Amino acid sequence: MSMKTISVALLASAAAFTVSAAHAEGDLNVICSADVVICEQLETEFEANHDIQVNMVRLSSGESYAKIRAESRNPKTDIWWGGTGDPHLQAASENLTQEYKSPKLGDLHEWAQKQAESSGYKTVGVYAGALGWGYNTDIFKDKGYKEPLCWADLLNDELKAEIQVANPNSSGTAYTALASLVQIMGEDEAFEYLKNLNANVSQYTKSGSAPVKAAARGESGLGIVFMHDAIAQAASGFPIKAIAPCEGTGYEIGSMSIVKGSRNLENAKIWYDWALSPEVQSRMKEAKSFQLPSNKSAEVPPEAPKFEDIKLIDYDFKTYGDPATRKSLLERWDKEIGAIAN
Ligand code: F6P
Repeated sequence: MSMKTISVALLASAAAFTVSAAHAEGDLNVICSADVVICEQLETEFEANHDIQVNMVRLSSGESYAKIRAESRNPKTDIWWGGTGDPHLQAASENLTQEYKSPKLGDLHEWAQKQAESSGYKTVGVYAGALGWGYNTDIFKDKGYKEPLCWADLLNDELKAEIQVANPNSSGTAYTALASLVQIMGEDEAFEYLKNLNANVSQYTKSGSAPVKAAARGESGLGIVFMHDAIAQAASGFPIKAIAPCEGTGYEIGSMSIVKGSRNLENAKIWYDWALSPEVQSRMKEAKSFQLPSNKSAEVPPEAPKFEDIKLIDYDFKTYGDPATRKSLLERWDKEIGAIAN
């Protein structure tokens, strides 16, 4: 290519950039349902690269779904990034979110594309992560507790008040735990298990990762969380070990959806395509966000728990993201577990 051709090409791309930047002015109202550190990183990076002001709130997955539902007649949110896939699928079924086929779809892993297809393209996978727990190795050593390798071990009497887990109404992590146990054990047995587990639970937190943050600080012995959240604490220097339960476990497809009736639809699509890019997903690890990225070309953090090393169940996203199933499991949890919670 001659110098002249190169400068013409450069001028043309600069002009295209100016047009798209001018086109992309305004606001974007984002709900972010992952850890606050990655939420803030995304907000800062997006604003640095676009002429768009981001107004972000951080809420847990179930809370985000409830907010989008409550706003449905007068939507204030444009885009919902992150959080477990089940409430995104529920929102899609209830027509609270809108179809969008990103040009980036073809660059994603099959699990992320499947999430999009099964929702009629009203949501898409942005990351994945397996459920497990993190325990405080200092506390377990000092108190002489047995290493908790299996779901069954969490029922040991010695762990009385040592465990924290979130409330599945607010937290997608805890809903994933509930739905995983139902799939592993059967529904009645899972509720029996949760009743027994309640004897060892000191607190049902609002956010899914809070239990392992408490264990990291020595406020409790163990938090049932996504394994990547346990690894994030270990990477911050806390004495936390992540465990993949021996009986098997479920996983999340962290998702992203555009809200139906978004008032900043063009900007929402710009965020959507940007958030699916390998560059953005490869930088998630800088926020100690160690999930598996959905873009095939994104760098997988070496710390990310690998699915091939974990006994994963064939999590039925269609059933457990279905509004009727989710509502009925949460109602039963409120009646049988919430009612006896300490
Ligand atoms: O902390 C990150 C994370 O575990 C995500 O992987 C997940 O989607 C989200 O938090 C779930 O949070 P919550 O349980 O609070 O809804």
